[in-house]
Amino acid sequence: MPLIHPRLAGTDLVPDFLLGDENETVGPHVLAALTRSLGAATGIWSAILRHDPVNRWYTRLVLSGSVEVWLISWCPGQYTRAHDHGGAFGALTVVQGPVTEIVCDADWRPRGWRRHEREASPTFGRDHIHKVGNAGSAPAATIHAYSPPELPMRYAPDAAEQAVEGFLFANVTGGGLFDAVPADATATAGAGAVAGSLATAAGGDVAGVVAVGGGRP
Ligand SMILES: [Fe+2]
Repeated sequence: MPLIHPRLAGTDLVPDFLLGDENETVGPHVLAALTRSLGAATGIWSAILRHDPVNRWYTRLVLSGSVEVWLISWCPGQYTRAHDHGGAFGALTVVQGPVTEIVCDADWRPRGWRRHEREASPTFGRDHIHKVGNAGSAPAATIHAYSPPELPMRYAPDAAEQAVEGFLFANVTGGGLFDAVPADATATAGAGAVAGSLATAAGGDVAGVVAVGGGRP
């Protein structure tokens, strides 16, 4: 049986074809449509949402055979560790924002960053690796969907995570640029050099992989 948050039960916010038990994969555009639809239901998610400055808060809204959906809050300065989603497609919609995303390559090296404003709905391919968080000064919140659901996520090894955090500080949060405006993620002047030097400084283990159970999303 699919699991659905009590506040979503009885609504038509999640279409029936996403609530089956069959293990079916849906693509990023379907996921983005779902998170947009849920994001537009302000009265629903705002009644569920909490912000916890000590432990990053999140709760699952839906788990079916084809999709998992999470509502996540981000107090200023809260971030995930760099991670992938185990080969799942993904999408998120920003309902309170903005949030910042550091995008990494397959070897966990940061290659750019983006700021997603409220109502943005970026989508992710199966090999997407990122670190997401709140570089602003006000609480933020996002709704995420992944398909197929419950694939084991992988997290950056310590050395690689340090390099990503260095990139975040150098490009986003450091030097008083707490609300910095991002350059284009793939054309950020100097970003490649910064990422490269940090990755080198962090040692030779940046290509390693740490598998961690749980800890979603
Ligand atoms: Fe993620």
